[in-house]
Amino acid sequence: MASLAHKEMSTRLMTLLAPQGRPATEIVPFTILKDLQESMENLMEADWADMEMGLYPSSLLFTTSWRKWIQCYPLLCLDMPTTWNRRIRRNVTDLPNCINKSNYPNYYLQNFHNQTDGYLSDHSANLYDLQVEILFNGMADAMRRRILPPLLFGLKHFKLQSPWQMKILDVGTGTGKALQQINAALPHAQLIGLDLSAAYLQQVKNSFEQDRKTIPQLVQANAERIPFANNSIEGVSCVFLLHELPTEVRQNVLNECFRVLKPSGILVLADSIQLAHSPQFRVIIENFRRIFHEPYYYDYISDDITAHIRAAGFERISEESHFLTRVWYATK
Ligand SMILES: C[S@@+](CC[C@H](N)C(=O)[O-])C[C@H]1O[C@@H](n2cnc3c(N)ncnc32)[C@H](O)[C@@H]1O
Repeated sequence: MASLAHKEMSTRLMTLLAPQGRPATEIVPFTILKDLQESMENLMEADWADMEMGLYPSSLLFTTSWRKWIQCYPLLCLDMPTTWNRRIRRNVTDLPNCINKSNYPNYYLQNFHNQTDGYLSDHSANLYDLQVEILFNGMADAMRRRILPPLLFGLKHFKLQSPWQMKILDVGTGTGKALQQINAALPHAQLIGLDLSAAYLQQVKNSFEQDRKTIPQLVQANAERIPFANNSIEGVSCVFLLHELPTEVRQNVLNECFRVLKPSGILVLADSIQLAHSPQFRVIIENFRRIFHEPYYYDYISDDITAHIRAAGFERISEESHFLTRVWYATK
């Protein structure tokens, strides 16, 4: 409800104060909203059932950091005019002056989602989780949790190994939301978070420190060149990264995931639904790219991710949709 109220309020404000910035979205028909509501309820049921089966603790379902949201919300509101302005001027490379651009690939140096500073500041990292929660009407964490059942199932292959030896790498970890979930489900595993953004990795550190948990190994690196040895990791996850990459980079990243995984290691991906599997949500998918600067999303929604996974060398590929998320899993 709070997300919907924020969206309504920000759209009205934009219409009033910066009408040129208002994106030309299509109205979502009521029947589609009903389908969406139903798929959201299915996701909640699946989430609850997996918790009851003991795949992850019930505490994981109630981790909303209201205190942090209350602190961040005024900052988010104060940031809105800057974002509208950037959208009106179609300025998509408005990044902090202090960054050394040569440290990042060109496709990364943009204001994804029209976000202030792109992924390259503490300000951006601080607001990111709240923005994603608002975008997905509070369902972002439940969507991320869909990686846990296939990950846990895939890792059973290594059950003779001590749980302390299990290494799980989260690629494009951002603020580490998926890492926190994996940590709750597999408290003894060695976790690694990889991201290009030092500011986002700092958020991972802060949140684990705040919860008094062992901080994962945090690696600032390009997922196209993962700095780990061949055949060294049991599980790799990657959440909401693929749609932000050009096609060839998507393939490079999956190739790297394959290289670092041990034989029989498990790869689990979660990202936006796509047109081929969710044609009923076409308007919602298209509205997303009309509202936000997502330079590779148009290509992503029609891309054959299974073909990329296969081309990387993976076998036993499965896929499923949950609300607005598509999940793929495969074995090396
Ligand atoms: C949409 S966010 C997803 C973050 C997180 N996985 C989540 O669930 O919210 C994409 C993340 O991928 C990172 N990223 C983008 N391109 C990358 C690359 N080539 N290598 C490593 N990280 C990258 C960004 O810095 C950002 O933190």
